Amino acid sequence: MTRLLTDPAEAAALLRDGALVAFPSETVYGLGADAWNGRAVAAVFEAKGRPHFNPLICHFADAESAFAEVVADDRARALAAAFWPGPLTLVLPRRPACRVDLLAGAGLDTLAVRVPAHPVTLAMLRHAARPIAGPSANRSGQVSPTTSAHVLAGLAGRIAAVLEGGDCAVGVESTVLDLTGAGAVMLRPGGVPAAAIEAVIGRIGRPLKLAAADATRSLRSPGMLLSHYAPSLPLRLDAVAVETSEALLAFGPQPLPGAGAMWNLSPGGDLAEAASRLFAGLRWLDAEGQRLGLRGIAAMPVPPEGLGEAIADRLARAAAPRD
Ligand code: TXA
Ligand code: MG
Repeated sequence: MTRLLTDPAEAAALLRDGALVAFPSETVYGLGADAWNGRAVAAVFEAKGRPHFNPLICHFADAESAFAEVVADDRARALAAAFWPGPLTLVLPRRPACRVDLLAGAGLDTLAVRVPAHPVTLAMLRHAARPIAGPSANRSGQVSPTTSAHVLAGLAGRIAAVLEGGDCAVGVESTVLDLTGAGAVMLRPGGVPAAAIEAVIGRIGRPLKLAAADATRSLRSPGMLLSHYAPSLPLRLDAVAVETSEALLAFGPQPLPGAGAMWNLSPGGDLAEAASRLFAGLRWLDAEGQRLGLRGIAAMPVPPEGLGEAIADRLARAAAPRD
C-alpha cells in the first residue's frame, strides 16, 4: 500500500530508512530516494522501469549542501544565487569525497544537482539532511506527474508513500545545464528559460533541435533523446486544422474548430499557464480520446520562446515514434 503523507518529517524518516517517497516540486513530482544509499537508488530504477544508463538528479535543501558533493565554479555559484530554489539543474563534476551512490549518476564522474522551490519539499530535505535522488515520479517513458493523483496512477503499490504538495506550479521539468566544460550547454530546456540563464552567465550552447525528423533519428541513440512523455494516442504536431476524429491540444484565443475533444493550454496565450497545464492536458486528452474512440491528438503550435521552448521540446518527444 502506498500512503499519502502531509508531514514532511514523516517523509524524511521513511527516506532515511531507505524507502521510496514521491515528493512535490515546482516542476513535477519526483520519486525520492536517499542518494547515499545504493539499495534505495537501485529501487528507484526498478520502480520506474528506468534504464540504468540514464542518471538521476539529486535534490538539496540549499546550495551549500549541494556544493559539498560537487565542484562549483563561479558560473555555478552565480546561477545558484539567481535561480535556487528553482527549476534549474546544474551538471557539475563530483568531488572526490562525493557520497552520492555511483548508480545515481549512472557511473558518470558528473552529478546533476538542484534545490527545488517547494516549501513542503524543502522542509523534507532539511529533515532528511542528505541528498535525495529524484527522477520524475512516473513509469519510464510516460507523462510526468503534476499532481499526487498522477503519481499514484503510475506508481501505487510500487513506492512507500507520496508527500502531498498540491498542483505543480511550473509544470515542466527543470532546465538541465551542463557546466562541466568551458562552455555551458543546455541539455534540456525547462522551467528557467535560456535567455534568463544567458542574462547571468552569457551565451550558452543550445540543445539539439527536436524536430520530428530528429526525434525519429534519436530513437537509435540512447539517453536523453528517446521518446518520452508519451500518451497512448499518437500525437500530431503543429496542427493547422483538426478533424472530429481527433482530440485537440489548443493554445490561445482561437482554438481550431471541430475537434472531438479539446484542452486549451491557455486561452489567453500565456506560456507559463500553458506549461503548468501541459502534462495534465496530455493525460486528460489521452483518457478522453480513448473513451470517445478518437484516433489521435493534434497539437496547435506554441511560440518557441521563453517557456515555449520547453513546451515544444516535450511535445516533440511525446510525438516521437515508439517501438
Ligand atoms: O524538474 C525536474 O528536473 C524533475 C524534478 C523531480 O526535480 N526531475 C526530473 O528528473 O525531471 P528526470 O530523471 O526525469 O530527468 C533528469 C534529466 C535526464 O534527462 C538525465 O539524463 C539528466 O537529467 N541528467 C541527470 N544527471 C545527469 C548528468 N550527470 N549528466 C547529464 N545529464 C544528466
Ligand atoms: Mg522524467
